[in-house]
Amino acid sequence: MVSNSVAIRRCTSHEVAIIESREPPGAGVARSLFTAQQAGRGLYLVAWEDDIPVGGGYLEWTQPPELKNLQVDEPRRGRGIGNAIIVAAEREARQDGALEIGVGVDNFDARRLYERLGYLPTGRRETYTYEYVDADGTRQKETETAVYLRKVLTSS
Ligand SMILES: CC(C)(COP(=O)(O)OP(=O)(O)OC[C@H]1O[C@@H](n2cnc3c(N)ncnc32)[C@H](O)[C@@H]1OP(=O)(O)O)[C@@H](O)C(=O)NCCC(=O)NCCS
Repeated sequence: MVSNSVAIRRCTSHEVAIIESREPPGAGVARSLFTAQQAGRGLYLVAWEDDIPVGGGYLEWTQPPELKNLQVDEPRRGRGIGNAIIVAAEREARQDGALEIGVGVDNFDARRLYERLGYLPTGRRETYTYEYVDADGTRQKETETAVYLRKVLTSS
């Protein structure tokens, strides 16, 4: 069970600068997710532990909504924070009736977490290429195939 000192909330303009300062230079992940939130395209949910940002996820307002960019800082994994971010996203998506999550075909650990929470395969499978800045500040390009899982959310 995640500790009481972990709080999950949507990112504010003050907080985005704190998250950004912990990213490799030029990564721009927090800023782009926050900009998308400000444009009304989604919610940038951030997990805070003792005033430190320790993970997050982006809930995109597609139909159904999709949880993207889910990650927890490596030393803090396996303590329920990822689970808590998903539960927070489900609360926000409840009125839309379902939530989808894409997971890399070889990401068995993450998939196990989603399946435990009741996510089932939709049959959608996509291969896409994305760029990111690694911990050394080097721009990298990667191609990944993801399968999409969905959970039906009820109002109760
Ligand atoms: C996947 C992830 C967000 C889960 O967050 P977490 O806080 O570690 O998860 P929780 O503690 O709530 O739940 C534990 C479960 O997460 C999964 N998990 C644990 N460590 C993991 C790791 N290093 N990588 C991926 N999944 C992991 C397992 O299913 C684990 O269950 P288990 O104890 O039965 O093995 C986190 O591990 C992570 O950031 N992984 C790397 C990025 C990633 O794969 N993101 C998902 C993209 S779809």
